[in-house]
Amino acid sequence: MKNLAILISGGGSNLQSIIDSTKNGVLKDIAKVVVVISDNPSAYGLERAKKENIKAVAFDYKNMDKKAYNAEVYKTIKESKADIICLAGYLKKIPENIVNEYKSKILNIHPALLPNFGGKGMYGHFVHEAVVKAKEKKSGATVHFADENYDTGNIIIQKEVPVYETDTADDVAKRVLVVEHEIFPKAIKKVIESEV
Ligand code: GRF
Repeated sequence: MKNLAILISGGGSNLQSIIDSTKNGVLKDIAKVVVVISDNPSAYGLERAKKENIKAVAFDYKNMDKKAYNAEVYKTIKESKADIICLAGYLKKIPENIVNEYKSKILNIHPALLPNFGGKGMYGHFVHEAVVKAKEKKSGATVHFADENYDTGNIIIQKEVPVYETDTADDVAKRVLVVEHEIFPKAIKKVIESEV
């Protein structure tokens, strides 16, 4: 059984899909969420964790020294004995010491078909607005190994969705989120079963 540490910044719907998958999905009997960490004390994802009796901690990134913030995140991950770190709608960079210690054990989900529509400033709604503005015919989601940069690192799984001419950024976001919830647990399973 592998221990998962999940880092979040917002609503936590990807966190929920991972938790649900450990209960009755592809991650059943192979993985367990042991801690949820957020840079945002009012992230709704923390409530989701508490409802599941999972340890949930927040460090107020905005009001903390960055070094102190990263030290707290590192200490919490170590104490949780996590084997794998999942960035589930987590908007902060991962410091080098964590990247080095957890090489090929940090997975990030991005709501687009990387390497397109990724990088600094490309998160959440900004991604879908850029996809619609570019008149793309398809979009999708990507789970990749995270490194010390934004949205780079080897891709583990991607899945496409169509984009229609009449789509708004909201339409695309909704369609992509469904795919995110499907591929994140599958990607974690692939890494655990070291198919990658
Ligand atoms: C998702 O599209 C995720 O990729 C992005 O923010 C959206 C919401 O994520 N970063 P969640 O509901 O907080 O998992």
